[in-house]
Amino acid sequence: TAARRGVIARYREWLPIGPGDPVLTLGEGDTPLVHAPTLSRMLDAEVFLKVEGANPTGSFKDRGMAVAASVAKGQGATAVVCASTGNTSASAAAYAVRGRMRPIVLLPAGRIAAGKLAQAVMHSAHVVQVDGNFDDCLSLARQLADHYPVALVNSVNPARLEGQKTAAFEIVDELGDAPDIHALPVGNAGNISAYWRGYTQYAREGLATRTPQMWGFQAAGAAPLVHGAPVDRPETVATAIRIGRPASAELARAARTESGGRFGAVDDDQILQAQALLAGEEGVFVEPASAAGVAGLLAAHGRGELDPGLRIAVTVTGHGLKDIDTALAAKGTIEAEVVAPALSAVAEACEL
Ligand code: F0G
Repeated sequence: TAARRGVIARYREWLPIGPGDPVLTLGEGDTPLVHAPTLSRMLDAEVFLKVEGANPTGSFKDRGMAVAASVAKGQGATAVVCASTGNTSASAAAYAVRGRMRPIVLLPAGRIAAGKLAQAVMHSAHVVQVDGNFDDCLSLARQLADHYPVALVNSVNPARLEGQKTAAFEIVDELGDAPDIHALPVGNAGNISAYWRGYTQYAREGLATRTPQMWGFQAAGAAPLVHGAPVDRPETVATAIRIGRPASAELARAARTESGGRFGAVDDDQILQAQALLAGEEGVFVEPASAAGVAGLLAAHGRGELDPGLRIAVTVTGHGLKDIDTALAAKGTIEAEVVAPALSAVAEACEL
């Protein structure tokens, strides 16, 4: 079916891809919308997780990259560039090589999860580690694209948000209407803007009767949208959203205001606890940044700010395997004792 052939095959009439344009796909999108019984009980709500780690390179970026890479290819690009905290670079590299374009990625030196760096390297990216943060990298990537023959595929490229809005389409297609609240992590602020575009387009065309409140959560040490001012030295364990000057801040503010939603900040402990809860009780292993939406909902519920009985969709943005160092460090040492190869010893170790 079209669902398994990628977001362009499935939603082409909603995307800036013309009849004769090239289509690059790795089968992105059509990700699981998983009911979360434990979270539903804890939040007194009906909670669904949109599991974007199930995309080809393990994050939601693949939706937008399929479209951005296809458009770049159609325009004759031979190289693409992006700044990234890791996931965009993994996705850009994969789709670039797929389209026989050369991937160049600018990364904040030493602040990229190992799994993501491995992806960029394996997908033949030219990796430039910049002695600066993501915001510095994005500024450089923009300048590089201005002065050299390389196509910029960060979310300031409009094709990226177009592709990413398909996640909202899928949620409405599956639930039959928009949820009451859509919660998600916010870094460079592209994804929340893309979801809002998707929800509003579907409502405008009569495919949904309403739009959800958009609830965007940032890490406390990197929360410019919550504070209303840029953060010069963003800091958080959730390296994916360690961003102080979100490129799509204006679009995200509009999404928050028009939807009647909110921004909130969650600290690193809340993020890691939400990550542990998702993995340990719902069976869904996500990277730290991806747990920020769940952490924010739990905090809001704890303050009595969540009405009971709502239907809530939460995007968990990237796969847990991308950053196992942080996951294992948060768990402490792995307590797996070594036992003799005997049934009685194994049973005893299992406390059976
Ligand atoms: N979650 C994950 C796992 C991410 O990688 C990102 C962004 C976000 C959430 C936030 O999404 O930027 O659209 O608000 N990662 C970008 C990157 C910055 O370079 O991979 P956003």
